Amino acid sequence: MVIEKICCLGAGYVGGPTCSVIALKCPDITVTVCDKSEDRIKQWNSDKLPIYEPGLDDVVKTCRGRNLFFSTDIAKGIQEADLIFISVNTPTKIVGNGKGRAADLKYVESAARMIADLATSNKIVVEKSTVPVKAAEIIMKILRANTKPGVDYQILSNPEFLAEGTAIVDLIEADRVLIGGEETPEGQKAIQELCWVYEHWIPAKNILTTNTWSSELSKLAANAFLAQRISSINSLTAVCEATGADVAEVAKAVGRDSRIGPKFLEASIGFGGSCFQKDILNLIYLSECLHLPEVAAYWQQVLSLNEFQKTRFTRKVIESLFNTVTDKNIAILGFSFKKNTGDTRESPAIHVSKTLLDEGAKLHIYDPKVEPEQIYYELTGTYVKTEHENIKKCVEIHDTAYSAVTGAHAIVLCTEWDEFKELNFNKIYEVMMKPAYLFDGRKILDHEALQRIGFHVQTIGKRLARTGSIRAQGSLTMP
Ligand code: NAD
Ligand code: UDX
Repeated sequence: MVIEKICCLGAGYVGGPTCSVIALKCPDITVTVCDKSEDRIKQWNSDKLPIYEPGLDDVVKTCRGRNLFFSTDIAKGIQEADLIFISVNTPTKIVGNGKGRAADLKYVESAARMIADLATSNKIVVEKSTVPVKAAEIIMKILRANTKPGVDYQILSNPEFLAEGTAIVDLIEADRVLIGGEETPEGQKAIQELCWVYEHWIPAKNILTTNTWSSELSKLAANAFLAQRISSINSLTAVCEATGADVAEVAKAVGRDSRIGPKFLEASIGFGGSCFQKDILNLIYLSECLHLPEVAAYWQQVLSLNEFQKTRFTRKVIESLFNTVTDKNIAILGFSFKKNTGDTRESPAIHVSKTLLDEGAKLHIYDPKVEPEQIYYELTGTYVKTEHENIKKCVEIHDTAYSAVTGAHAIVLCTEWDEFKELNFNKIYEVMMKPAYLFDGRKILDHEALQRIGFHVQTIGKRLARTGSIRAQGSLTMP
């Protein structure tokens, strides 16, 4: 079969950008991205896309209406497609067996059932969502138990490795594409057909083919390894602060070892995002189910350290502010889980903000890309407006960093947006309450220059020396 039409179920952070790039690189293929959310599809068809991702607007503008379509007509999408990506969300279960750890596969299952109900011709069904090992078996069982005459299915695993904020570059210049399938002639043929799609722009040597279970496990393993590096470097931040070592220098020295490499050693207030925690929990649950408690405990420690880091940082903020933040104005700079995205899922800024709110602080939040409703949602757990009235008394969302810091007792920098490096801190110092505190949770500012202005500065993984500035009085000692 030559693949002429692709349908993707799920127009989210993965389905949208991935299919836009496939449409860009494969003008001979028609790509339709379907979602059950009318609102989301409306946004994909508008000038303001539902997600912010550098470069995405241009790709969508080039392809939309040509060979890229966004639609809620799931039946048509499934029926016409030769190949269907399942790119729906796979959150952690919040109720029932395995709650808090196992992946909730209800959306994957519903996507498989839709395909089973609606398909009238052969389909290659591709698991793009991140799933537990053996999830393809569930899809297979649903599809094959409902096979109609003349309809045959091949199920492939093709996990996505893009990172938000760099999704378009990650997709265009992918380190590797991974495709797993059944070790039967039909399975191998389906793998080759999907390889053909990617070979439009990915060199064949960068397309890895494996069995289905290796592919599923590799995705969980890759995220676990990445998160493990962050927890490893973050664990050393506490040691650095206590000893006088500088975590940036340690990371540089360690990363120079070609066996270790320099990437993903940026100390932070903890990792966020929709994937790391969810996928490690998934791996922990799998290990427990396989009666491997030592393996589960090993990966649990990566998450525990991440919680420790978020808590440690927030505690440092509170203790430095004379152990009371009640009624103090605190400016939170950055709310997304990393720069260049408006995504707030599992953002460490949520932990910091909630803890400060619990302590009675008044927050003034600024993020260049996160919508105010999203911030209120993360802090209250609801989009309902009336529920927001109480929180609005203690949380104000600002249009600029300068407005957020005016009258603030402290600035807490949670996201490493480039524009924060360009702020005029002389001007900011003048409009803040004194002593003016600044907590750089991302290590991106020039701390010595800030101290010279008069700020009391603390950061992650480095004990800052007290400066000689006559304006800087008060203690800089670490709690
Ligand atoms: P998302 O929540 O942004 O998007 C999922 C979309 O699927 C939603 O719009 C939802 O309405 C839709 N959906 C759910 N059930 C559906 C159905 N039956 N039919 C049609 N649409 C349906 O999620 P995401 O961030 O795009 O993640 C999708 C998957 O990709 C997850 O498994 C995730 O772990 C994985 N992943 C995410 C990233 C990332 O950076 N976000 C990276 C790699 C892998
Ligand atoms: C991650 C994986 O990188 C990607 O391959 C996978 O497909 C999805 O999950 P994402 O969560 O979008 O991508 O972003 P990533 O760049 O991995 O950052 C995750 C979190 O780790 C962010 O909060 C980031 O600030 C933090 N981080 C990253 C660090 O604290 N230090 C680092 O050195 C790198």
